[in-house]
Formats: sequence, structure tokens, C-alpha cells
Amino acid sequence: MEGLRSFTLIEKALVKEENGTELLRAQAHIWNHILKFINAMSLKCATQLGIPDIIHSHGKPLALSQLISSLPIHHSKTPFVYRLMRILVHNGFFEVQKLDEDDGEECNALTDASRLLVKDNPLSVTPFLLALLDPTLTQPWHHLSTWFQNDDRTPIETANGMALWEYAGHNPRFNNLFNDAMASDARLVTSAVMEKCKGVFERLESLVDVGGGTGTLAKAIATEFPHMECTIFDLPHVVGDLEGSENMKYVGGDMFEAVPSADAVLLKCILHDWNDEECVKILGRCKEAITSKGSKKGKVIIIDMMVENHKGDEESIATQLCFEMLMMTLVTGRERSEKDWATIFSNAGFRYYTKNPILGLRSLIEVYP
Ligand SMILES: C[S@@+](CC[C@H](N)C(=O)[O-])C[C@H]1O[C@@H](n2cnc3c(N)ncnc32)[C@H](O)[C@@H]1O
Repeated sequence: MEGLRSFTLIEKALVKEENGTELLRAQAHIWNHILKFINAMSLKCATQLGIPDIIHSHGKPLALSQLISSLPIHHSKTPFVYRLMRILVHNGFFEVQKLDEDDGEECNALTDASRLLVKDNPLSVTPFLLALLDPTLTQPWHHLSTWFQNDDRTPIETANGMALWEYAGHNPRFNNLFNDAMASDARLVTSAVMEKCKGVFERLESLVDVGGGTGTLAKAIATEFPHMECTIFDLPHVVGDLEGSENMKYVGGDMFEAVPSADAVLLKCILHDWNDEECVKILGRCKEAITSKGSKKGKVIIIDMMVENHKGDEESIATQLCFEMLMMTLVTGRERSEKDWATIFSNAGFRYYTKNPILGLRSLIEVYP
């Protein structure tokens, strides 16, 4: 029988050093990583079922039996809710508490992480979760090894035959999902920018937000600075149907061709989508668009990650490594260190820059031509 045959010399070299405990630990390590997608999918399921919203609207920890009776599920699935909650409690999304008033029954409370998944939270990251775990964005991961062996630019092109932005242009459902995801990230960043770096926008008479999506950040700036003319510039399928306001307008176009003129140009989460050569081209177009070159107003304001070459706690390093893989799989970009950014600025003909950390690894960088 195959399973009982003795090891060859080569096979012995693989197994001889291991004792039983080490072998089991190695196997658990592999299983743990193979099964990691289950963490993400369980979270997606809980969010789609509205579990964070139900616990939030209860106003205090919720007994499992009450949670089950509030869920929009088929009665035959009742026994499985405990299993779903157990993995989510283990992963820090809910906390188990015992309240006397519920006769000692286990109650589930929100944690800081699941509060960010409540739909009514103005800073909710649920749209980001739903877009990142949509089959359009998970499918390319099945094509990663094929992509390594062909000359496609990105694995998403190997999967779908077109780049991410083109795919969004052809698929309104995905276009909306992606734009909502970016808007939810922009809400989080907007509150940090307004709290820490509002001064960056003072004295600007006009601003163009290039690749500004549906305009979350630019709208907040236009409201805060009513004398500033704000333009949100993005691909026509993103801004085509959107209406501006008194000091804010939407313009469709391609940033590789031309960018509308303004005192300053804003680029939030744009350059990390593109490789170094493409970034130099985009910055070149931004430089041409700046109307008051040589003054303090004439600048490009970049909001993006500035990574510190894998410094920090284990969780942030793992997140950063995942983002680097994400940028390789969905777009042609990458996350950059300060040295990488400085090289791009200099290659695009900019003279100097200043930086402010705003949120996690995210920084706001002002770059002057
Ligand atoms: C990662 S999203 C960032 C959106 C927004 N700045 C934010 O942070 O919420 C990148 C944006 O760039 C836009 N984009 C991609 N290619 C573009 C191009 N050639 N010209 C203009 N915008 C483009 C996309 O449509 C998308 O809205």
C-alpha cells in the first residue's frame, strides 16, 4: 500500500529531523494559513446578516437566543449561529459577557472593530469589506501563479481580461460597490485630515481632486472652505451622473492625458495604484495643471501610505505585507517608503516636499514644483 511503503533517502531527508510534536506544529501552521480565508468570509457573512447592527441597536450586550431571533435566517440554521459567533469572538469582533438579568446566558457585545462595521457608523468600513471580498476582487487571487508565468500586467487582467478601472467601467454593479468602498475609506481619512491638517488647504482658491471618486473628501473641503473652487476629476463612469454644488463640480477625463487647472492638486490613494513610471507621468500632468507654481499655494497634496520597511507590531506588518500583495494583484502599484516617494518626486521634477502622518501608516505629503 502507498501509505505504508518505506521512505526513500530523499524523503527521509525531509522528515528525519522532525519529531512528532514539531511535525504536528508544522501541519497546524500550514492548516492555519490555508484556512485563513474563513476568517474573512465569516466576517463578511456576519456583516451581511447585520449582526453588528442588531447588537448595536439593542444598546447593550445581546443574549445569543435574542440575537438568533432577530436574525433574518431560516429556522433550520439556528444551531449554526453559535458556531459563527465563536470564530468571530475568537478573532476579536465580539466579546462574550454574562449578564445576571439574562439568567447567565452568554451575551455578545461589540468591540472597537465591530463598531466600525455598524452600518450607521459614519466611519463604517463595511463597504470596504464588501468590495474587497466581492468575487470580482477575490477571483484574481486564483490566477496569481498563472500571472507569474505570463506577461499580463496584473492578475486581475489574467482573471477578467481587463484592468480594474476598465472592468469597473463595464460593470455598473461593481463600479458602485468599489466607489462606495472608496467613499467609506475617504470618510475615515477626511475626519483625520480635518482634525490634523486643515491648514494645508487654507488660502487655496482652487483645488482639483484627481481620481477623487464620488467626492467625499473634496465635498468636505468645499464645505469647510466655501470660497475655494473644488473640482472632482475622475473617469467618466465614476463622475458622469454626479451633480456638483455652488463651489464644487465634477469633471470626467483621463489623468494620463490632462488634469484640470487649479492652485493645488489632491491625490488621495491614487499613486499607490500605479508603478513608478506611471506615477511620474501622473505627477507630470499634475505639475502642468498647477496655476500658481513657485508660490506656497502651488502644490500637489498626496494622501497615501508611507511605509517604514516593515517596522511596527506584528499585526501592522502583516497588514502592510497584504497591502503590498493587493497592489500587485489588482493594480500595477505598490506601497512606498519615504525614499521611494522622494525618488518619484525628484524624477517628476518637483523640488521639495513636507510630510505629516495622519492615520496609521497614511501620511499627507505636500510636494512643491
Ligand atoms: C483607489 S481609488 C481612490 C478614490 C479617491 N481618491 C479616494 O481615495 O476615495 C482610485 C480612483 O482613481 C480613478 N482613476 C483610475 N484611473 C484614472 C484615470 N486614468 N484618470 C482619472 N481617474 C482615474 C478611479 O476611477 C478611482 O476613483
